Amino acid sequence: MGQPPREQSVIVDAIWPLIRRFLFRMDAEHAHDFTLRTIASAPRLWGAVARGLLGSPPSTLACTVAGLKLASPIGLAAGLDKNGVGIPFWPALGFGFIEIGTVTAHPQPGNPAPRMFRLVEDAALINRMGFNNHGADELSRRLTILRERGQWPTVPVGVNLGKSKVTPIENAISDYAFSAKRMKGLADYLTVNVSSPNTPGLRSLQDRALLEPLLPAVIAEAGGIPVFVKLAPDLTDEAIVDAVNLAVECGISGIIATNTTIGRVGLSTDPGEPGGLSGRPLWPLAHKKILTTLAAADKRVPVIGVGGIESADQVRQLMDAGCAAVQLYSSFIFQGPGLIARLHRDLEKK
Ligand SMILES: Cc1cc2nc3c(=O)[nH]c(=O)nc-3n(C[C@H](O)[C@H](O)[C@H](O)COP(=O)(O)O)c2cc1C
Repeated sequence: MGQPPREQSVIVDAIWPLIRRFLFRMDAEHAHDFTLRTIASAPRLWGAVARGLLGSPPSTLACTVAGLKLASPIGLAAGLDKNGVGIPFWPALGFGFIEIGTVTAHPQPGNPAPRMFRLVEDAALINRMGFNNHGADELSRRLTILRERGQWPTVPVGVNLGKSKVTPIENAISDYAFSAKRMKGLADYLTVNVSSPNTPGLRSLQDRALLEPLLPAVIAEAGGIPVFVKLAPDLTDEAIVDAVNLAVECGISGIIATNTTIGRVGLSTDPGEPGGLSGRPLWPLAHKKILTTLAAADKRVPVIGVGGIESADQVRQLMDAGCAAVQLYSSFIFQGPGLIARLHRDLEKK
């Protein structure tokens, strides 16, 4: 892999404030939809432009996690591209792996809008999207086309699975298993999402009694690809230890910690909107819970750290603490498309 053309990525950083001003005039979800529609209109073309401007991750950052070869340890977290419409584009920004979804067995509209809020002063987001997505069948069709046309990226693409809102919690297993089956031969890895705060009852699936049958059921349908489980930062340390031990016993390939929090600690102004908080104020809690997860995993399975990451220092802290990789979402919204190349440059300097 080539070195990034450093001077050129400066162009992206120079025009980002203008693009940001334009996007931030729209409400958060409209800006998100507008951007995704633009990317989805020509993901490979936009990808070629981005790659030309940003270069590729330095080869020194390539790593392997659960047998997956990552171009960089920095991945795109779930939720940004729920329907996988921009898959050929994201790696061009430097992401070393990408996670699409959450996808559910049934297509669903999610919660009523407004449901995504930008907290600019705090570099944070609150969302209660509620797994709006086109469903596992449609995603499977989209992924099949990419595979058949040879447009699958060279970086791993994971699919994050959740429970459909219409499915009662007691039928959650078959709901997840259905989606896992649809992704067979397509996804490079799966993530069992039991930690989003916006689907009633979902986080109860982190309890031993429900997680114990769920994880093996997904693993059985996964066709041998790695299966991760994603945990909430609002779990007590004891609950994290319990969930990690159970996940390891079940044969899970890795833990993703953490999802958004229902807490509101660290906000300069609380808009009073229910939902999951992400971005800068999540970092202290996520960091603490990632360390708890690392201690519980005790090197038996890799841990992917996520929650409030916005600098190379934070990436370095998590990697030094033992994380195999990291993911981010919110800081990308605030810092723009040059963020990953910038993090790579800063990581290389250290
Ligand atoms: C608008 C939005 C939607 C999200 N949707 C999902 C989702 O569908 N599934 C999921 O597992 N996580 C979802 N997340 C959580 C992120 O993947 C990530 O775990 C969380 O935002 C913390 O990382 P960050 O502080 O870098 O954003 C979402 C986050 C945001 C901001």
